[in-house]
Amino acid sequence: MKAVIPAAGLGTRLLPMTKIQPKEMMPILNKPAIQYVVEEASFSGFDQILIITNRNKKVMEDHFDRNIELELALRRKGAYKALKELERIEGLANLFYLRQKEQKGLGDAVLCAENYVSHEPFAVLLGDDIIISDVPAIKQLWDAYERVKAPVIGLEIVPKDHVERYGIVEPGEEVEPGLFELKSVIEKPDPKRAPSNMAIIGRYILDPEIFSWLKGSKSGVGGELQLTDSISRYIPEKGLYGMLITGHRVDIGSTSDWLKANLEVALLDPELRPKVSQYFDELRALGKI
Ligand code: G1P
Repeated sequence: MKAVIPAAGLGTRLLPMTKIQPKEMMPILNKPAIQYVVEEASFSGFDQILIITNRNKKVMEDHFDRNIELELALRRKGAYKALKELERIEGLANLFYLRQKEQKGLGDAVLCAENYVSHEPFAVLLGDDIIISDVPAIKQLWDAYERVKAPVIGLEIVPKDHVERYGIVEPGEEVEPGLFELKSVIEKPDPKRAPSNMAIIGRYILDPEIFSWLKGSKSGVGGELQLTDSISRYIPEKGLYGMLITGHRVDIGSTSDWLKANLEVALLDPELRPKVSQYFDELRALGKI
C-alpha cells in the first residue's frame, strides 16, 4: 500500500528555527515530527511511502538512512538498545523522495505523486499534523474506505472561531457513528460562511482521479493549488466521506502550537506526565503562572 507525505512547506511561521532545519524535523520530545507520521503510515501497513520534499530538506532523508559511523560507535560502547532503535527507524518502510520545485500549495505537492501512485487508492498524511492514537489515524480511515468504497478524509471538531484555518466540511448522513457522507468541502472559509465546525485534519484516503482534477484546477485560497478544491469533485462523482478521528491531534504550524505539542505529548506519556505536572505545580507555587 502506498502513502504520500507532503513535507515541502517552508515553515515560515517557525522562523528563524526553520531557516535551515525543516519544520518536519522539529522535535516532539525526542523524535522529529516526521518520524511520528512515517511510523503512523508504517504501523498501518503502508510500506511504500513517498515524501514530497524540497531542495532544503535533505536532512529528512538522512534521518531515515543508516549512519554507519554512529552505529560503529554505539556498537563499540555496547549501546545495543540505541542501536536497535536506529535499525528500527531505518526499517520502517521503503521511503521514496521527490522534490517539489516550487511551493505552489498542497494540491501541487500531492500532484507530484501522480506517477508514483499510478492506479491504486492511496493515503495522504500531512507532515505537520501529528496524531497520537491507539489505532493509527490513517488505519482508521483505510478501514472505513474498505467499508464505503469511496474516498474518506479525517475530521476533527474545532472551535468555531478557528474554522478559517482549516478545510471545513458540510456533513450529510451519519452512516456509522462518526462517519459522515459529505455534501460539500470548503478551504479556509470565512467563519460566517462555514457550513460546520468539522475540520479536515491532515489525513486522507484518495482515489487516483484526484490527479486529473488537480491538473485542471485553478489556484484557490492564498493563490495556492488547494487539495480541498479538487477533493470536492468526488462528491458528485462517487461520494466522499469524512470520519471523526479517534485520537489526539497536535500540530506544529506555529511556535506556540509546537510548544503545546511537546507538552501534550509529554502529558500522554506515563513516565513524563507526573514530572510535567510537578513542574507546573512548582511554577504555580512560585507564582510564576
Ligand atoms: C491544510 C489543508 C486544510 C487542512 C489542514 C489541516 O492546510 O489545506 O484543508 O484543514 O491542512 O492541518 P494548511 O495547514 O496547510 O494551511
